[in-house]
Parts: sequence; C-alpha cells; structure tokens
Amino acid sequence: MQGREQWGTRIGFILAAVGSAVGLGNIWRFSYVLGEGGGFAFLLAYILCIFLIGLPVLLAEITVGRRGQSDAIGSFEKIAPGKGWKLAGILGVLSGSLILTFYGVIAGWVFYYFFAYLTGTAGGVGEGEYTDFFLNFIGSSVGPVFWQILFMAIVIGVVYFGVKKGIEVANRLFMPLLAIIVVILAIYGLTMEGAGEALNFMFAPDFGQLGNMDVWGMAIGQAFFTLSLGMGAMITYASYLPKESKLPSAAGSVVALDTLFAIFAGLMIFPIVFTFGMDPGDGVGLLFMTLPEAFGQWGTGGTIFGVFFFFLVGIAALSSAISLLEVGVSWAMRRFDWSRQKATLTAGIIITIVGIPSALSQGAVGFLSDIPLPGGTFLDFVDVITDQYTLALGGMITALFVGWGWNKVEVLRETGLQDTTIGTLWIWFLRVVAPLGILYIVWNNFYNMFIATEESLSYFVLHVLQYFL
Ligand code: PFF
Repeated sequence: MQGREQWGTRIGFILAAVGSAVGLGNIWRFSYVLGEGGGFAFLLAYILCIFLIGLPVLLAEITVGRRGQSDAIGSFEKIAPGKGWKLAGILGVLSGSLILTFYGVIAGWVFYYFFAYLTGTAGGVGEGEYTDFFLNFIGSSVGPVFWQILFMAIVIGVVYFGVKKGIEVANRLFMPLLAIIVVILAIYGLTMEGAGEALNFMFAPDFGQLGNMDVWGMAIGQAFFTLSLGMGAMITYASYLPKESKLPSAAGSVVALDTLFAIFAGLMIFPIVFTFGMDPGDGVGLLFMTLPEAFGQWGTGGTIFGVFFFFLVGIAALSSAISLLEVGVSWAMRRFDWSRQKATLTAGIIITIVGIPSALSQGAVGFLSDIPLPGGTFLDFVDVITDQYTLALGGMITALFVGWGWNKVEVLRETGLQDTTIGTLWIWFLRVVAPLGILYIVWNNFYNMFIATEESLSYFVLHVLQYFL
C-alpha cells in the first residue's frame, strides 16, 4: 500500500480550496439570487451567513479532514469510530456526487456558450432572440449531452493525475487566470453607463427585505453552496494536508477570496444588466439569456466580452467540479482499495451517465417531465434536493460533531486555536448558532416547498408512484 497523497505546498491546498469554492455559484448562482433577493439586503444577509455560519463550518470541515487523513466518510470513522457521525460523510459523498451530475450539465452549457461566442454563432443572434437561442439549445438532445460529456472528460482527466500532479497543478494555473480576468471585466463594467445603478443596487443600504425570511433562506443556501460545504469536498481536500499547516488562516483566506470573487462577479455583471435596461431579477436565466441579450445589443464589444466571460465561468466551473469528483474518488479508493485511475474512471463515468437525464430534462426531451417534481425539471429537482436539504444537513452534523461530539481540547489543539477566546467562540458557534440557523433554513425550505404550496408531499408521492406503477 503506498502512502497517502499530499499537496505539494500549503498554498497549493489554499488555491485548490478556493478553486472548489469559486465556481458557477459565484457567478451564475450568486448573480441571480442577488438579483432576486433585491440586491443590498441579500448581500448583507449573505455576508452575515458567510461569517457566522459558513466560516465556522468550513473550519470544522477542514479540521475533520486534516485530523482524519481520510476521505469524507473515513475521516469521521477514524476520529470517532462506530459513533454514527459518519452520516455527515455519507451525506457528503452522496450530495457531492449528485451535485456533480447536474453541475456538469450546466457547465456544459457554459462551454457551449464559450465556443459559440468564439466562433461567432452567439454574436450573430438577432435582438430579442437570445431566449430562443438558449431554450433551443438546452431543449435539444445531442448538444447538451455532448458538451456535458466533454466537460466531464476534462474533469476526469485532471483528477486522474492525482492530488499534486493533477488537482494542484490545474488550480495553480486556473486561479491566477480567473483573478486576472474577473478584475479586468469588473473594471470594464465599472466604466459603463449602468455602473452607478449597479453600485446602487448592490451597496446602497436598504434594509426593507431583511425581514423577509426567504432572503435569509437564499442567503444561507448560497453561503453553503459557494463555500462547497456539506458535501465532503473540503474534508477531502484538507485530508491531503500535512499535520503542521495552520488551519484558521487557511479557512479565512478561502472565505475572503471566495466572497471577493463573488463581489467582483457582481461588479462585472450588473453594470451590463443596467446599461442595457435588463431586469436583475430575471432568475436562473440571467447568465444564459439576459446577459447574452445585452452582449448582443452592445455589438462587437459584447461578443469579445462574451468570449472572456464564458471562458472565465467555464474555468471556475471546472475547478469546482474537480473537487466534487475527488470526494467520490477518494472514498472509492479507500473503500474498494482501488487505484486512483480505476476509481476516477469508474466514479467519473457513473456520475456522467447519471447526469444525462438532467441534460435531457430541459424542453423538448423533457425527461420525467410528466411528474410534478419539486423545483420543476429533473435537473432542478436534483439541484433543490441537494442545495436545500442534504448539503445543509451534512454541514449541520459536521458542526454538531466538532462542537459536541469531539473533545473540545483536542479540537482546539488540532486547529491550532488552543484555549483562546476565538477558539471558544468558534466552538459555541458550532454548538448553537450554526445548527439552529441551518435547521431553521431547512424547515423554511420544506415549508415553502410542500406546505405553503398546493403541491403537498402526498400529492408528489402519489405522482411518483403513478409514474412507476
Ligand atoms: N462552490 C462551488 C460553486 O460556488 O460553484 C460549487 C461546489 C463545488 C459545491 C464543490 C460543492 C463542492 F463540493
């Protein structure tokens, strides 16, 4: 048996963790939830959630991984054998792999857009026709599946080469590239006519929406998703850290860089949205319909912006998807005693195949479209289940484990916080604030989905049964 793989350097780990965190969530998801959540109020709620819940849980996950020196499930087993805490890891491996099934589909759309801007296809679409352009593409069958498979092949290729030679090398290249492109595009955005309105939208104090619990629900969901929490990714990445590296500053850097990136993404997107009189609350289609429409009206400048923009989003998605695949691969290598190569190919291919129904669920093919799935299409369904439930529960169990289930002195020694006020504060955040916050949100999501709508749980179950019987 060979020794366990490790990062080449501490910065390699930080870059990879930032790579995992910065993804579609910071650009596609962040911009539409910010738009729907009314701008500033959402931003405020989001930043509070990031620091009060996200950062403590991230540090908890990193601590579990580094101490356990094993995958998301194995780490819990090693630290607290036979105690049932590994449920967090099981949820993690399941959600990580499930998320990758549809993440690969959406990333495939992004790759297609990049290609379409590069070859001029997307630049030549007429005014008002970008909605059809998008819907025709995702509603077809060959296109979305082709781009999903292409994207997944690259992800599999990187993970195949291992922690140091594959994941670390890729992120060392990708992260600086992302930073440069997002800063340039954001600066450009700030020179546009709509910049003032965008800044106003994002930063002008308006506390009205803060009483709206849905805004908080979206904020905490976004905090978990964007920091890659609750799905074993950070546990897995931290398990490749050597014993001596400092954990709190690493967690702090990841949170700071991820948040900064999201804000820059907002500065790049919203000026365009306002300059061309689009609606920031357009929802999921913001990236694929609203922005391209604006690029189209802008002309050649918009096409060039489009090429860089979708390249940026594609790379961000790639580095996140790599971490999602690594969760399952790391587990399979230990569980079945497989080589990295065998585990990567097996997990990668299974996840790609399970993602195909999501790729086919939009529009014409409409996979499973006759069941009233919560969320809408099959893709939305997998998204909603993971985003709103399994991630949060996995994160909550991890917080409870580090807060209550593991000896406090040992935990603090492991993180390097020792007996400091910050250490004690952190433990209490994990014990009380994070679990209560998460529980509230899960309940709120459940209430909105099944109780406050006429589609009750029993109605849904009935339809599922009807479909299969
Ligand atoms: N954090 C990523 C994003 O913001 O797009 C998504 C993600 C990646 C979630 C990896 C979870 C994960 F394990």
